[in-house]
Amino acid sequence: MDYKKLLADTVIIEGIESEEIMSQIVPSRDKAHGDYSLPCFRLAKAAGKNPAELAKEVVGRIGCYNFLEKAEAAGPFVNFTLNKQSYAKDVLEKVLSAGEYYGNSDIGRGKTVCIDYSSVNIAKPFHIGHLLNTVLGAALYRLHKKAGYNTVGINHLGDWGTQFGKLIVAYKLWGDDKDIEKRGVRSLVDIYVKFHKEAEKNPVLDDEARAWFKKIEDGDEEALSIFNRFKKSTLEEVEKIYKRLNVTFDSYAGESFYNDKMQPVLDLLTQKGLLVDDNGAKIVRLGDDMPPCLLVRSDGATLYATRDLAAAFYRKKTYNFDKCLYVVASQQNLHFRQWFKVLELAGEEWYKDLYHVAHGMVSLEEGSLSTRSGNVVYLDDVLNMAVSKSREIIKEKSEDLPNPDEVAEQIGVGAVIFGVLYNNRIKDMTFSYSRALNFDGETGPYVQYTQARCRSLLEKCSYPDCDPDYSGVAGEEAGEVLKLLDSYPDVILSAVEKYEPCYLSRFLVDLSQAFGKFYLACNIAKSPDAVRKARLMLVKAVRGVLADGLSLLGIQSPEKM
Ligand code: ARG
Repeated sequence: MDYKKLLADTVIIEGIESEEIMSQIVPSRDKAHGDYSLPCFRLAKAAGKNPAELAKEVVGRIGCYNFLEKAEAAGPFVNFTLNKQSYAKDVLEKVLSAGEYYGNSDIGRGKTVCIDYSSVNIAKPFHIGHLLNTVLGAALYRLHKKAGYNTVGINHLGDWGTQFGKLIVAYKLWGDDKDIEKRGVRSLVDIYVKFHKEAEKNPVLDDEARAWFKKIEDGDEEALSIFNRFKKSTLEEVEKIYKRLNVTFDSYAGESFYNDKMQPVLDLLTQKGLLVDDNGAKIVRLGDDMPPCLLVRSDGATLYATRDLAAAFYRKKTYNFDKCLYVVASQQNLHFRQWFKVLELAGEEWYKDLYHVAHGMVSLEEGSLSTRSGNVVYLDDVLNMAVSKSREIIKEKSEDLPNPDEVAEQIGVGAVIFGVLYNNRIKDMTFSYSRALNFDGETGPYVQYTQARCRSLLEKCSYPDCDPDYSGVAGEEAGEVLKLLDSYPDVILSAVEKYEPCYLSRFLVDLSQAFGKFYLACNIAKSPDAVRKARLMLVKAVRGVLADGLSLLGIQSPEKM
């Protein structure tokens, strides 16, 4: 039910359309002012009246409606109080009949959004620096789907660059296939670090590395086969983590994919007179407020930005996107501003549809993880630690769980995801296991727990076959829960609009807290049939919305915990 619209229709002001009135109606901030308010300033001006007078007049003309308990004038405001029972009926029927589709919308219908996220680097550790862009991007992917968009998730792999020449040299000198098989990327990182140490003493190694990279570029069979093995081994490892995080992609077209797609872009920029020579290198000048964008080095090598430009053209052509999001740390602000500007100068109007969804850095609380791998924090280790801690907690809290390992995985991973999606994305954050795993805090496990508790209530209490008595959910505590349930679709839309999944994670905590208060205030199991039915409907609606919200964030809902 759209209450703003219903309420607007009760208001009669001569010469002013109902739409205009509706646009002024807002949910009341303070319960003392009812559920919705109509500030009369704007309308009074249009009607040539004094706002307080107009408010009185409006109230005098409002007729009798089932859904409306009362309308009062308070100074320049009209305050509306809805009939609690009919509101409860509306909201619960709406949520329950929509089921898992509740909160879906069609604002994205017919539109395509490409989302570039995670975008890990081959043969480099999947470290905590990639945690936020991975889970943030995946959440935005699901949220856009929920809002009706056609979504394309892209993992723009870092699989190109001179470092792979170095790695091949290192591999030929010290590589141990058995170790690589066993320790994967960690083994590659070790020989790569060793290469740098050795190359300082013996610069010939660098020349060899360059030669090997050239071989990759030229498609040399041996070079490619070694490189592809690195890629395969990295991806196998990364896939395992994606699986734990419930993250998927539609495309793994990485930087190397654009190897043969850069020249046409460079040609276009040359044609437009934008690409100019600068001591043998090729750059695009961007004006006074930004350094030029370097696209070809003097040795002929292309750059990260060159490949991003080629990728943007490719995506536009292949997917004809309405929006293309880049979920990448704010450290790369300049990079994105630069090459977006190149497109603008080139007259590619769709540059306006590219957004750098920047985010802050995640670090770990001091001393919370000792890594054998120096100062890189592997994401895998973080997840394992969270899971083993949650395993300890549930051992204490609920010893008779039939599947404690599975639940510990769901809670531990969920706590990490929720923990990093709880803040505005642009903020840097320090991740703390104890904070993220606090079952009573503003955390994933708290929301998961509330959801599991709803489930067990629904199992325990019989669901009567009579008409519900909505007076059972007309109290203040239930009212808060209903209002939140009612706002879920709007929460999703604002999370999509602002690229902020934290609106959703905060909402889930609010809903869990409101439910906790309702549960304390209202007996469910022992209430009379018709009242119990209404209350169980509310429990069911809360459980559905919590589980749906969690799944949008990539978090599972354990049945019991
Ligand atoms: N691989 C890059 C890094 O780890 C991130 C790539 C982001 N996506 C992009 N299209 N530039 O820093």
